[in-house]
Amino acid sequence: MPESRPASEWTGWRGRIGARYLSGPMRKLEDRWFLGSPVFLGGVFAMLRGGETVLDVGAGSGYCSLEIARRLAAGKVICLDLSDEMLGHLDRRAKREGLRERIQILKADACSSGLGEDSVDLAVSVGVFHELPSPGLALAEMRRVLKPGGWAMLLDFRDTWFGRLVAGTHRAEAHGPFGEEELSRLFLAAGFQNVRAAPVKHALAGRGQR
Ligand SMILES: C[S@@+](CC[C@H](N)C(=O)[O-])C[C@H]1O[C@@H](n2cnc3c(N)ncnc32)[C@H](O)[C@@H]1O
Repeated sequence: MPESRPASEWTGWRGRIGARYLSGPMRKLEDRWFLGSPVFLGGVFAMLRGGETVLDVGAGSGYCSLEIARRLAAGKVICLDLSDEMLGHLDRRAKREGLRERIQILKADACSSGLGEDSVDLAVSVGVFHELPSPGLALAEMRRVLKPGGWAMLLDFRDTWFGRLVAGTHRAEAHGPFGEEELSRLFLAAGFQNVRAAPVKHALAGRGQR
């Protein structure tokens, strides 16, 4: 498990501040102006029929997970993250917003979830892969747990001035922002089909089907 160390920038006091930021109003502005997350999330919501099991890799404080959970009549969102502070914040938000029964909290590494093969309908991830030393391993794990025909969809920083500013300064071993062709190659190398990587503002939205 090469990537299972705790993400230090998301633990302790930094984790608590990060969790608040990621579910607060400034994050929404950053998303709208620079990352185009509303466009990406629209694509995710369009995939939902209402009874899916969805895996959110690096769920953080629930930015994406809770929006998905809100749209599920049955099914659940498995919120995977390594940070106790993030998962604690997510847990409290889910309770407050009456969504706790649609949420499963999973403290695990993106590269070794411990979930069974063919166990999720859709796997998503927002703003996580640039932090990983080997994003290909996390994509392979997403593919392993997806049911045949299921989609992996991720949004992460693109190699632009903004992407380098925000995503180029984490841990030295982190991958950093992605190029369009590079992200497609990673999906293909992990065994996905119908692969597409498209720029959305300073981010890349990548998807592939198992
Ligand atoms: C920038 S935050 C994004 C959180 C959330 N997806 C969002 O959009 O608000 C990155 C998250 O990835 C998590 N993370 C980083 N490396 C991880 C790993 N190897 N396995 C699981 N989670 C990881 C961090 O703990 C953090 O919560």
